[in-house]
Amino acid sequence: MARSRSKIRPSTKRLTVRPAGLKDLDVLVHQRRAMWIDLGVGDRSRHEKADKIYRRWAETRLRNHQLTAWLVQNHDGRIAGGGCMWLQPIQPNPKRTDMLQPYLLSMYTEPEFRRRGVASMVVSKAVEWCGKKGYGRLMLHASEMGRSVYKKFGFRRTWEMRLDLEQSSARSKHSRRAIVRRPIVSA
Ligand SMILES: CC(C)(COP(=O)(O)OP(=O)(O)OC[C@H]1O[C@@H](n2cnc3c(N)ncnc32)[C@H](O)[C@@H]1OP(=O)(O)O)[C@@H](O)C(=O)NCCC(=O)NCCS
Repeated sequence: MARSRSKIRPSTKRLTVRPAGLKDLDVLVHQRRAMWIDLGVGDRSRHEKADKIYRRWAETRLRNHQLTAWLVQNHDGRIAGGGCMWLQPIQPNPKRTDMLQPYLLSMYTEPEFRRRGVASMVVSKAVEWCGKKGYGRLMLHASEMGRSVYKKFGFRRTWEMRLDLEQSSARSKHSRRAIVRRPIVSA
């Protein structure tokens, strides 16, 4: 007999989302590193260095409340995934008075928990948090895997542009086409 759809994708009822704190730093660092590995960015030695820098960065911001993080936990205590929201300093603008902008980052779901709504639970929390605190906008950089998750919440592409200066200086040595084709990843 064919397996029912609910057996293939267990319900999210057995998953709960909770705020993460300083005691969860190891998990947050693990999730950040695992995210980069899945995105194919960096090698082991870069990850080792990046872990230390991210741990310090996250710890400082968790302490001063510029970083809010959530973890999704399975009924057996295993961490299924999570994500962080950073209050990013931004420049003033006639349309907005606050100079902090919520930015969602380090979104990661353990492979065995994917497509069960784990990331969506975190995005819901972040959106709810922004609403309660009166922030009018939530930003993020979406990976290819993440795009459909965010789209469902109504996120849309923006007109951010960037110039990679390292690549620009290489431009004199290499062809323009090679530079333009290099993938751009940030999360
Ligand atoms: C991107 C990522 C975080 C998504 O995590 P996830 O927990 O699988 O995301 P969700 O389950 O909320 O949503 C994924 C899909 O499952 C679907 N889904 C959610 N709950 C579901 C359920 N109960 N039953 C069936 N499908 C469900 C969603 O509609 C979504 O649909 P899609 O397949 O069309 O995209 C995860 O793939 C990941 O960690 N990737 C590697 C790192 C990365 O890219 N991070 C994002 C950086 S921006």
